[in-house]
Amino acid sequence: MTLLQGKNILLGVTGGIAAYKSAEIVRGFKKAGAQVQVVMTRNAQRFITPLTLETLSQNRVMTEMFPSSYEDEEEAGPFLRSTSTNLPEIDHIALAQRADVVLIAPATANIIGKLAHGICDDLLSTLVIATKAPVIVAPAMNCNMYEHPVVQGNLEKLKSLGVQVIEPEAGFLACQMEGKGRLPDPDVIVTFVVNFLHNRQRLLGKKVLVTAGPTREAIDPVRFISNRSSGRMGYAIAKVARQWGAEVFLVSGPTALAAPPGVHLTRVETAAEMREAVLKYFPQVDVVIKAAAVADYRVKEVKDQKIKKKDSGLVLELEETPDILEELGRIKEKQVLVGFAAETQNLLSYAEEKLRRKNLDFIVVNDVSRKDAGFEVETNAIQIVYRNGKVTDYPLMPKEKVAEVILGEILPFLADKETQNRHRGE
Ligand code: PMT
Repeated sequence: MTLLQGKNILLGVTGGIAAYKSAEIVRGFKKAGAQVQVVMTRNAQRFITPLTLETLSQNRVMTEMFPSSYEDEEEAGPFLRSTSTNLPEIDHIALAQRADVVLIAPATANIIGKLAHGICDDLLSTLVIATKAPVIVAPAMNCNMYEHPVVQGNLEKLKSLGVQVIEPEAGFLACQMEGKGRLPDPDVIVTFVVNFLHNRQRLLGKKVLVTAGPTREAIDPVRFISNRSSGRMGYAIAKVARQWGAEVFLVSGPTALAAPPGVHLTRVETAAEMREAVLKYFPQVDVVIKAAAVADYRVKEVKDQKIKKKDSGLVLELEETPDILEELGRIKEKQVLVGFAAETQNLLSYAEEKLRRKNLDFIVVNDVSRKDAGFEVETNAIQIVYRNGKVTDYPLMPKEKVAEVILGEILPFLADKETQNRHRGE
């Protein structure tokens, strides 16, 4: 098996009973063709010996922040062998730089807390802060510890920084309690890492522009016209596109969401501001996905002062906002253009009309009259309509899974464009 051929995996093992499973994790990575460098904390060595992991990884196991010098280059192992100078390399920096991915399995509450707060008091915690490589943690601990708000808060913090978390499993724990906190089987962990590294290649080198959230069109200084979009759908697409290796530009209307890690975020308020930001990025991007719920109308004359309440009622004159997606459809050159259709009836015929009028490659339809799909909720149920008339239905899924489906559908369009460009000699 060569799924991880050429990959350098840095495996951090911390002090929990599940440390015994790290031996099988190392074997799994070796079988997949990876180089494995193990770093153990002091407490990890009470559960499993460095010699076991050294033998299986065929690499010196690192345990100390300040080791004495190595007898020879061979002893240092491929992760640490000096390259162009005779000077010894600084371990935590060399380890941090050479890794393609850092996996901590099992990860105790202690290391999770240290990483969330930037505490570097041993080799493992220091090299995680020093690395540019993606970091994956697989928590394993007593179920009460795992559920503790401090541990959950630390995990949320790590996720917001782009750290991947392999959820522990529920079951019978070493402490004789039943609950969530068990390290998944080694093959589940190895497969997670294989898929993670594979996904990171899928949009590598591509630039993706995503719009999300509502727009707000002012009526007066205190009131506006808007809609119920939370931004969740667009932010999920931006997050997954980044995880798949793309450079992502997210243009967002007002939302309560934090930017996904590593994404360039531009916050806007009105449809006109969104148009301006989108047109700025458009010439350089390969893909545009317009998940934003742009207000279709704005007030013709925005009042400078708060409108006073009158007995005779109030009539507002509205005008259309610019249709950003329709404009992109007119000027598009190399870009794959994907729109959304938020409908409450005649889903497919309305979507088909928008697909053609806006010159899209495909359109994602959601029935926004459903309580469990469309606006605000965590889940969505979509249909994708293509220019050749094909329609694909998908079941109700978390918005991140929907994002994976949409981005997966974009890949063949990108491949086609690349083939066309090659034939044109570009
Ligand atoms: O944000 P969430 O709470 O997660 O909700 C997700 C969502 C329901 C907002 C999302 O899934 C969705 O359907 N987004 C598109 C909403 C919309 O504006 O649909 P539409 O059918 O009105 O517009 C069609 C397309 O034209 C959309 O891609 C829209 O971004 C674009 N458009 C519309 C009007 C306009 N003036 N400019 C545009 O670019």
